[in-house]
Amino acid sequence: MRYYASAPGKVILAGEHAVVYGYPALVAALNLRSTACVETVESREIEVISDRWGRALFPLEGSREEHELFPVALVARKLLSESRAALGLRIMLSSEIPAGAGLGSSASTFVATASALCAALGLEPDLGGIREAAMEGERRVHWNPSGVDVEVALNGGVLLYRRGQAPERALLSSPLRLVLGFSGVPKRTGDMVKVVAEFSKQSPEIFSVCMESIAGIATRLAHSLPRGDLEESGWLMNVNHLLLTILGLSTAQLDGMVAACLSSGALGAKLTGGGGGGCIVCLSRPGEEERVSEAIRGRGGEPLVAEVSLEGVKTWREG
Ligand code: MEV
Repeated sequence: MRYYASAPGKVILAGEHAVVYGYPALVAALNLRSTACVETVESREIEVISDRWGRALFPLEGSREEHELFPVALVARKLLSESRAALGLRIMLSSEIPAGAGLGSSASTFVATASALCAALGLEPDLGGIREAAMEGERRVHWNPSGVDVEVALNGGVLLYRRGQAPERALLSSPLRLVLGFSGVPKRTGDMVKVVAEFSKQSPEIFSVCMESIAGIATRLAHSLPRGDLEESGWLMNVNHLLLTILGLSTAQLDGMVAACLSSGALGAKLTGGGGGGCIVCLSRPGEEERVSEAIRGRGGEPLVAEVSLEGVKTWREG
């Protein structure tokens, strides 16, 4: 029997980085997903096969910590030890989400893996247990993760998330399409979280003004977006981008893509996720996505039109 699960990637509409410090962030699940397929095997090892990082074998304890796929083995080890099953595992991974783009590819992979593993190992697939196992992987990949990526991969939809609290769901009145622009420069979120930690030490007063302002923007956007007020939503995203720039998270290419999108008629654009590379997210009037995509291409970026998805993690089995 093969056990499958898939979980969505995400885009942060407002509040990245501030969310690490306990402020709210508004995050949306995308119709781009990561999928995990799990089989139990006799040999007492964890085999991980990924469309992106190749194949690796991990023992049930210790070693190979530097390998890109090691965090997946950590998720598996946690659930294997909870199940007390004397088994090995084969985990096959694939993803539609570009890596290092700030679109939650790692969290969606860990959530899908944890969910498929719970089913394969006969553990009750409750969201709390899946969350905890997925966070084992996230803590390994990111430095001090807020948990926002895991939460939206579990639940789908649009969430106002605050660290350590149950998320509030924002209900959109109509489907929402967003234009993403990938700079082509993959970036480790953990490194950018350290940039902000350094800023907070060097300039604590400015840091706290930025944090409070970003929190206000995320909270306000959680009202203006469901109301369908695209003008105000775009404006809020633009201000959020400026604040992230002050924190040292933007680059000339991200700023160039943001400016080009706005010149092409977009209502709002900002870097999204960790910054320092990765992606921008752009809000445009319905039907104007192609014009905005062209503006992104003109600045050397790769556009991608994605839809906000209500679907969180889902599990199925075959064979
Ligand atoms: C990553 O998607 C968002 C950050 O705020 C980091 C985190 O919340 O863990 C940059």
